[in-house]
Amino acid sequence: MRLGRAALGLLLLAPLAVRAVEPISLGLALAGVLTGYISYPRLYCLFAECCGQKRSLSREVLQKDLDSKLFGQHLAKKVILNAVSAFISNPKPKKPLTLSLHGWTGTGKNFVSRIIAENIYEGGLNSNYVHLFVATLHFPHASSITLYKDQLQLWIRGNVSACARSIFIFDEMDKMHAGLIDAIKPFLDYYDHLDGVSYQKAIFIFLSNAGAERITDVALDFWRNGKQREEIKLRDMEHALSVSVFNNKNTPDTVDIVYFLACRSVPQL
Ligand SMILES: Nc1ncnc2c1ncn2[C@@H]1O[C@H](COP(=O)(O)OP(=O)(O)OP(=O)(O)O)[C@@H](O)[C@H]1O
Ligand SMILES: [Mg+2]
Repeated sequence: MRLGRAALGLLLLAPLAVRAVEPISLGLALAGVLTGYISYPRLYCLFAECCGQKRSLSREVLQKDLDSKLFGQHLAKKVILNAVSAFISNPKPKKPLTLSLHGWTGTGKNFVSRIIAENIYEGGLNSNYVHLFVATLHFPHASSITLYKDQLQLWIRGNVSACARSIFIFDEMDKMHAGLIDAIKPFLDYYDHLDGVSYQKAIFIFLSNAGAERITDVALDFWRNGKQREEIKLRDMEHALSVSVFNNKNTPDTVDIVYFLACRSVPQL
């Protein structure tokens, strides 16, 4: 941005310089620089947000960010780190990355999705390539489900056409009408192209309270048995939640990775 301002400053001062030196050739040179700046994408992207991902994005940076910001969520950290870094570094993923985050209220589901968004795009949740939907806010009326479905599909299609590396976050999935989830499903599958658009580089993140009681139960059991929270393995959660989460109609059955946020209010965690 600073460089951008410097370039602008130079342009404003240009008339003085032009008069002082040789007007026509200096003018042409400046026009050339300006055209190059606008037309050469990599140069342009140094100063403005572009589709793609941050140059600084790496597994190490994401790990550092998760380690320093997200507390008490060893399962979430591990799964997110592996899934996101592997997906981002894959130049030809076979399907979009779909994460489903489950946990009780205040366990950091939105917080985690913000960290992911910020690691991929400078603007994080405010980026033009990151789209947040809240079921109760954006799709409140069950009677308008057909309209929502059409709008949502058009929105996803339009945005992925414009930027393959688009991120869609769906909050309060447990309150989302099942019909709307059906509208999202086709985008999550192994299609090379759907009507000429490839969704394979997109990221879909679903946030939900579904299964939260079971997550808390598992964490509480560990605590009662004198075990450390960090001893909870992903398979302990998967086993406990296979019925309540995977069979839940509000968890799209095409998700890659479902991960669990144990309740922070369990004592001594
Ligand atoms: N594991 C955590 N580590 C650090 N901060 C956390 C953690 N969990 C929650 N927080 C803090 O609590 C705030 C609220 O969490 P967040 O909104 O992400 O919860 P949520 O899981 O989305 O809850 P809800 O189901 O009510 O939407 C976050 O903005 C963050 O500051
Ligand atoms: Mg939330």
